[in-house]
Amino acid sequence: MARSPPIYLNNAATTWPKPPEVLDAVRQSLALPVFGSGRTTGSQGEDYATLAREALAALLNADPPEHVAFTQNATDSLNILIQGFLAANGDGCHVITTALDHNSVLRPLHELERQGRIQLTVLPFENGFVGPDTLESAITPDTRLMVTAHGSNVLGSVQDIARIGESLHDHGIFFIVDGGQTAGHIPVDLRALPVDAYAFTGHKGLFGIPGTGGFYLRDPESVAPVCYGGTGTDSFSLYQPREMPERFESGTHNYPGLAALAAGVNYIASVGVKTIAEKAERQTAFLIRELKSEPNITVYNESPSLPIVSFNIRGMENDDVGFILARAYGIVARTGLHCAPLIHRAIDGGRGSVRLSLSWFTTDEECRIAARAVKEIAQNADSSVGSS
Ligand SMILES: Cc1ncc(COP(=O)(O)O)c(C=O)c1O
Repeated sequence: MARSPPIYLNNAATTWPKPPEVLDAVRQSLALPVFGSGRTTGSQGEDYATLAREALAALLNADPPEHVAFTQNATDSLNILIQGFLAANGDGCHVITTALDHNSVLRPLHELERQGRIQLTVLPFENGFVGPDTLESAITPDTRLMVTAHGSNVLGSVQDIARIGESLHDHGIFFIVDGGQTAGHIPVDLRALPVDAYAFTGHKGLFGIPGTGGFYLRDPESVAPVCYGGTGTDSFSLYQPREMPERFESGTHNYPGLAALAAGVNYIASVGVKTIAEKAERQTAFLIRELKSEPNITVYNESPSLPIVSFNIRGMENDDVGFILARAYGIVARTGLHCAPLIHRAIDGGRGSVRLSLSWFTTDEECRIAARAVKEIAQNADSSVGSS
């Protein structure tokens, strides 16, 4: 790689670097024996789960904090919520999702459809959004659940989940939102939003480390637990506690991960999500403007609300572009389908794209270097070969 450290523009996959506070928190959490959560004796030390829960509840305005449960990542959260919704409400219903969704939503739902446990409708999108009429016309008397991404990891578009939630609730439909790309990137107010459950991951916009995630669930009884075990509470009972968070948190917590997550969320809160979002918007608009000025480059998202730019260069495969960016310029991008295959079917014929994704730590200079690099590659491409 040409540059050390690299210019890292793959933050939608996982953020790097992490704030120094996050690295310190992991080290400190392992340097002392752990206490807290009713699972250990002793009166000193930190209760990392509670620290992380309270920090997240404050960031997302999730009320009460106990309704935030921790999992391994957003994928784990979505599986628990979807499976648990069926466990609580029974099989046989109609479920809606969208072609904008990630495989963490599409695969659990398609598996349930294959098993004959649900009927599934996948809504199409236009310019990154699912229109209100498209949604309304898909609702049937059997529709009980909609699961969809708040923000797209390919197009950076953010759905109007307030509007979607309101029309779903008019029909008594349960609404699970995948916040994998929005938590930490844009303001999220779960008290105000008409969503029943919101899944997040720790290692992306929240600056935690891999292996952490969770969800907020408004009404615990609406989703049954699908994993059972020790919680350190009510241990004479041979049944899972009904209350949150124990309802969904069996086994030993990933406490170094939760220490990191608490530190990451506190870092974001100290900067301010609005400040983070404003800088991201400015830098993303710059990249899109630059890339669009080169006729050989097709940019697939015009004005995203998340720091994501997806493009292809005429006459080149996207993985070749990624390879040159890494080898010749030391720029880490991501290429291919980004685990969101139905988006690519719609925008680029299933070919996949090059994705640049930024974080709070991306500098203006890094954006300038990346724009110059992509334009240089495009100028040297043989545009008579291949499609856009
Ligand atoms: C929109 C969206 N949802 C869910 C996920 C899954 O996140 P995780 O891999 O942390 O489970 C991702 C990851 O890329 C994503 O972009």
